[in-house]
Amino acid sequence: MKTLDDLLAEGVAGRHVLVRADLNVPLDGETITDDGRIRASLPTLTKLVDGGARVVVTAHLGRPKGEPDPKYSLKPVATRLNELLDATVTLAGDVVGDSARTTVAGLADGEVALLENIRFDARETSKDEAERGAFARELAALVGDGGVFVSDGFGVVHRKQASVYDVAKLLPAYAGGLVLAEVEVLRRLTDTPDRPYVVVLGGAKVSDKLAVIESLLPKVDRLIVGGGMCFTFLAAEGLGVGASLLEGDMIETCKKLLAEAGEKILLPADVVIAEKFAEDAATESVLVADMREDWMGLDIGPITAERYAAALADAGTVFWNGPMGVFEMAPFAEGTRTVAQAIVDGDAYSVVGGGDSAAAVRALGLPDDGFSHISTGGGASLEFLEGKELPGVAVLEHS
Ligand code: 3PG
Ligand code: MG
Repeated sequence: MKTLDDLLAEGVAGRHVLVRADLNVPLDGETITDDGRIRASLPTLTKLVDGGARVVVTAHLGRPKGEPDPKYSLKPVATRLNELLDATVTLAGDVVGDSARTTVAGLADGEVALLENIRFDARETSKDEAERGAFARELAALVGDGGVFVSDGFGVVHRKQASVYDVAKLLPAYAGGLVLAEVEVLRRLTDTPDRPYVVVLGGAKVSDKLAVIESLLPKVDRLIVGGGMCFTFLAAEGLGVGASLLEGDMIETCKKLLAEAGEKILLPADVVIAEKFAEDAATESVLVADMREDWMGLDIGPITAERYAAALADAGTVFWNGPMGVFEMAPFAEGTRTVAQAIVDGDAYSVVGGGDSAAAVRALGLPDDGFSHISTGGGASLEFLEGKELPGVAVLEHS
């Protein structure tokens, strides 16, 4: 795989460099609630800018329906990137149209153009290779002859999309610093984890995590389960879960997992239940056998949180993906906080697997440096641990 350092050694002054970044940050209206992914993209961009490259950044935000939609404009992202990066960042008004061409043509050495949300063009995510290819050619044409591609959007390398995959076949392609760093961390988890290797999984659905559970179970020493998905496991144990999240069609699968590897799987002993899904709802901590019929479980309970913390205390390696409860609401944040704090307090090599868990770390005010690595890729890191090939990485290896 050719890397950013190889490109810098060639020299980038005056050259057009197309960079795929993952700047898909959570927004509340136009306010960015967690700019972690923008910050994570800075080292690669800074090196290119300092080298005098004319940088063209492409990124997505959310899942617009293949056409321009002001709700998904990269405008707030461009503003934040401009604040954080010591270079001028100009947002184009379209993806590969007149505005993009004019903005790119106007770049001086060390300046940055950000193209509008790449998913405003339906060809980006098309399943049709020819459609994606045509779009990738238009992207490549923006950087012209002598242009190169740097793949740095780790959070999106599991997507076979035009700006991630197809364009890497058209231009000389290099792995950016973020992609390299993330892959190295995940290799350490899959190759030689220090033991005990403890994985903490949360989030809403078992079905989203099933593949990773199946591939991790033989490799880990303990699998700690929280979040909405724990209720399907509890139901598999024959417990009533009231109005909690439940995937009825996954109960048999959970039974099978428990039968095969139950001694490794830790489930809640108690949960925080609420009368409704609201910050001001009436709440109660109950043993899992005592859940009320029309209340819902929104966090693991205090007994469970302590038990999970104890199961993390002696870990050699920890991978954590998915909050233990609805941490965005104060009454349901304690489970996630206790578990995260236990990881911070321990000496394990600890990796936070992207998305919501990374946001939880910052929202709960935990120190970023309390973890060995906070990944920018939720889905991407899970697919890596599942042993799947990541198209956006494979294409760089073969380029
Ligand atoms: C993410 O948020 O996980 C990445 O940015 C990928 O986004 P996607 O799931 O919409 O492809
Ligand atoms: Mg700036």
